[in-house]
Amino acid sequence: MRIDTNARIIYNKQVSGEYRNMKIYAPRIARHARPGQFLNIQTSKTGRPLLRRPMSIHKLSPAGLEILYKVRGTGTSLLAQLKKGMEIQVLGPLGKGFDIKAPFTTAILVGGGYGISPLKALHDLLKKKRKKIITLIGAKNSKLIYKKGFTGVKVATEDGSSGTKGLVTRVLDRVCCSGAKHPAVIFACGPDRMLEAVAKIAGKYNIPCQVSLEALMGCGTGVCLSCVCKKKDGRQARVCVDGPVFKAGEIEWKT
Ligand SMILES: Cc1cc2nc3c(=O)[nH]c(=O)nc-3n(C[C@H](O)[C@H](O)[C@H](O)COP(=O)(O)OP(=O)(O)OC[C@H]3O[C@@H](n4cnc5c(N)ncnc54)[C@H](O)[C@@H]3O)c2cc1C
Ligand code: FES
Repeated sequence: MRIDTNARIIYNKQVSGEYRNMKIYAPRIARHARPGQFLNIQTSKTGRPLLRRPMSIHKLSPAGLEILYKVRGTGTSLLAQLKKGMEIQVLGPLGKGFDIKAPFTTAILVGGGYGISPLKALHDLLKKKRKKIITLIGAKNSKLIYKKGFTGVKVATEDGSSGTKGLVTRVLDRVCCSGAKHPAVIFACGPDRMLEAVAKIAGKYNIPCQVSLEALMGCGTGVCLSCVCKKKDGRQARVCVDGPVFKAGEIEWKT
């Protein structure tokens, strides 16, 4: 079910490093939302920018939804200026979320940059289900690491300013190699190159893996085809409605 609603902002604040955290009151969307789904947010009432901006659902509570975002351009700059009490138009929940139906004991969460955002709602659900959680967070530097509220955290930064120096996928390889974590499932969100590397490691150790893809989106509802990705079976999928979460083995990576 998709709901287009005017949602009141409960807070919109700078959090650690380069991220902002916005909470909105949207009980009807929250009631139907699942980890891995996203919202399409109108960042301005002036009609500019025209297109809404997709944002993962970061945290879920009965009445509230949170997003964690990084200011990148026009839309996110406008979003950052909004204050508590103001209202924004939000469409959601959109897309298919993470699938946690299969039996597993350990969840390995891998987040790159703001790709950590949707993994928090998943983390909180898995915690309720008493799963063991290992959270691997990677970014270029420590300012882009967001780990608040996660358990079992290991950090990797490319410049070595926090945690292991290097790519988070090196840490993932080490964790998978230790073998003690089976049966495990990997859930990953981040840049395509990271997701491709995660998919390779998952394949190498034969661990089921789900990836949340990012794509430039127009409508967010399956109509405009601006978000298509290629699948290994030769078909195209729309990231907004067939994803954003896919089985890693389904995706034909670009590189
Ligand atoms: C399903 C989904 C979930 C997302 N979740 C989050 C999230 O939780 N937190 C977060 O900070 N961002 C998230 N994004 C990315 C976010 O939507 C873009 O950063 C945002 O739309 C940029 O808007 P802007 O107007 O500020 O930037 P623009 O001025 O439109 O563009 C600035 C730069 O960002 C790039 N860009 C714009 N939109 C996207 C996009 N959709 N994907 C990749 N690059 C883009 C442009 O190519 C350009 O280089 C998500 C995107 C998708 C598709
Ligand atoms: S964004 Fe329009 S079809 Fe996916």
